[in-house]
Amino acid sequence: MADHTNTDILRFVRIKKVIEETPTIRTIVFEDEYSIASMPGQFLMVWIPPIEELPMSVGIENVESCKFAAVTVRKYGIGSTALYHKQVGDLIGIRGPYGNCFSVPENLRNALLIGGGTGLVPLVRLFSNLLHDQIQASLIMGARTKDEILFEHKVQELLADNNLSDTAAFSTDDGTYGFNGSTVDLAESILVSKKFEIMYTCGPELMMKGVQKLGERFSIPVEASLERYMKCAIGICGSCCINDKLVCRDGTIFDSMNLKQLTEFGFSYRDKSGRPSYFVS
Ligand SMILES: Cc1cc2nc3c(=O)[nH]c(=O)nc-3n(C[C@H](O)[C@H](O)[C@H](O)COP(=O)(O)OP(=O)(O)OC[C@H]3O[C@@H](n4cnc5c(N)ncnc54)[C@H](O)[C@@H]3O)c2cc1C
Ligand code: FES
Repeated sequence: MADHTNTDILRFVRIKKVIEETPTIRTIVFEDEYSIASMPGQFLMVWIPPIEELPMSVGIENVESCKFAAVTVRKYGIGSTALYHKQVGDLIGIRGPYGNCFSVPENLRNALLIGGGTGLVPLVRLFSNLLHDQIQASLIMGARTKDEILFEHKVQELLADNNLSDTAAFSTDDGTYGFNGSTVDLAESILVSKKFEIMYTCGPELMMKGVQKLGERFSIPVEASLERYMKCAIGICGSCCINDKLVCRDGTIFDSMNLKQLTEFGFSYRDKSGRPSYFVS
């Protein structure tokens, strides 16, 4: 069992492997016992020399039958693009894992998981754990377009290993693969004929807000993993606040009861300087 006492201290790890996932997303694999001991939903602060430090969900990759830690990054702004271009042998700094994890109620029989983009990093880990525990889990994976579907091969392997074929469904905004439309519309079409005991979601905030509304309509509890601007990740700086909660310390995963009280959820967030910005649907 890993010793968690020093995980706030920045440690440098050498990149062991880089996996091309989609035209804009890569997985960066490295050795770190603390990350391997993490739970789905937890995140690392990743120092990208010499640019900046970014929060990233912790992933797990099997390389030559051994477990390694990983982060899966979409190239977007300056920091994520610098991380995306890191190569095998380069050093990155990490601290963490931080945050809570998705909770799995005792005797859970079935669950619906709804993820978009890199939000699928924690959800595919959770999906794998649920299948391993013989819980009937259904996964909805969303992307803008066919080329941007993340982890399809991984999920197909999981389904084959568990003798399942139809518990993962894809949706694309442009209709080039799977369901033509949003993950929320696809979830709604499934929920009208099947009852689930819980829904887990991670991805764009407006998508998660849509899942929260479905939860209220169909009386299903929801757990959502929120993203906010983070600096310290240890509950000191206040940059990740949403209403009176700190996403790094109180989350990142919030349940239905909490989400109901977070009036800023799906409505507003703060930029680097703390100024409020608003989600546009
Ligand atoms: C808990 C958590 C887990 C995340 N997991 C992943 C992941 O697995 N893969 C992935 O690609 N991205 C993930 N992100 C998003 C990632 O941290 C960055 O926000 C994103 O990569 C853009 O950063 P940038 O510097 O390239 O863009 P910039 O151009 O600097 O910023 C673009 C926008 O990104 C957001 N952002 C930038 N820096 C931060 C920061 N320090 N904290 C939070 N938001 C920031 C802001 O909204 C900003 O407006 C996660 C964020 C959080 C909070
Ligand atoms: S990032 Fe500093 S309090 Fe959450």
